Amino acid sequence: MPPSRPSRSVAFAPGRVNLIGEHTDYNRGLALPFAIAEGVTVRAEALSGERIEAHARDLDEHDEFALGDRSAAAGWRAFVRGTVAELSAAGLEPVGARIEIGGDLPRGAGLSSSAALEVSLCLALLALAGHAEGALDRIATARLCARVENRGVGAHTGLLDQLASLCGEAQTALCIDFSTLAIEPVPLRLEGWRLVVLDSGERHAHAVSAYNQRRLECTRACELLGVPSLREASSEAVATLPEPLARRARHVLSENERVLATVAALRAGDLAAVGALMNASHASLREDYAVSTPSLEAAVARLLAAGAAGARMVGGGFGGSVLGLFAPGARPPDGAREVRPSAGAHLL
Ligand code: GLA
Repeated sequence: MPPSRPSRSVAFAPGRVNLIGEHTDYNRGLALPFAIAEGVTVRAEALSGERIEAHARDLDEHDEFALGDRSAAAGWRAFVRGTVAELSAAGLEPVGARIEIGGDLPRGAGLSSSAALEVSLCLALLALAGHAEGALDRIATARLCARVENRGVGAHTGLLDQLASLCGEAQTALCIDFSTLAIEPVPLRLEGWRLVVLDSGERHAHAVSAYNQRRLECTRACELLGVPSLREASSEAVATLPEPLARRARHVLSENERVLATVAALRAGDLAAVGALMNASHASLREDYAVSTPSLEAAVARLLAAGAAGARMVGGGFGGSVLGLFAPGARPPDGAREVRPSAGAHLL
């Protein structure tokens, strides 16, 4: 039976903060992200023609293309074209639409504005084409959105951002095991503590190439060790790798351990221990994984100088935001924004 089609749809997808577990997703490891309240909203209205007309409200920019047009584009347009192309490739043909993109998530600040855009576009276009919610489950949706990023934009990212945006829950972090894609909700009860993000001011201009290079280093480490992923590597074996591969792999193994320790600390209500684990994660990302920059270091130092119990870069690195954890009574520095674990993507 042909699906019945609404004349409009509206979808919201949040950004994310990763509490801990960085550069583990594409290594079949563990991470502990949460969705935040800020995100991207896509309003779609059916058009009679086989075309997409899109408007990015904050930039006041437009794009228009035929549904079957597969020509490349840059910036936000690559995400719109990529989402249409991936939905078609999955047999979930979108219909002609006028799309309005808005929201309150800063772009390029390391809070997954890209994933929020892909996910909100995907949900809005699916709904407008009459596909039932659930036509694509959340894991399949995350994979489709990641393909937009991998193929359309050229960033060989994992599934962390998309799964966090799709599966977020209020007052909850998600312990994601990327070897099985099992997601375990972990209560994130802050009891007066605060999580804040501070923008380093540096945009990830070179992030794509450096990110892809780290990913290749992990692949090379696995080839040398003869394991399918770093999840199967032991720390003894990793220590035998040539540099910088040994340090890269050591970060991944130690970060997986820190995710488990953070889950245990949260379950025990020990937020001071969570702060110490955040600091250790940042040191490992700086020293072993080498994805920090002077402006990220300066932002972490500002949070610590203001009395943060823990501070670390979030996301791929090379710019973006840092996350700080403040005990009750401690005052975050000017410019820091509080973030709260919030609901995942949904239709409005
Ligand atoms: C970016 C990518 C994610 C993940 C993080 C690092 O946010 O999009 O897939 O790899 O970097 O943890």
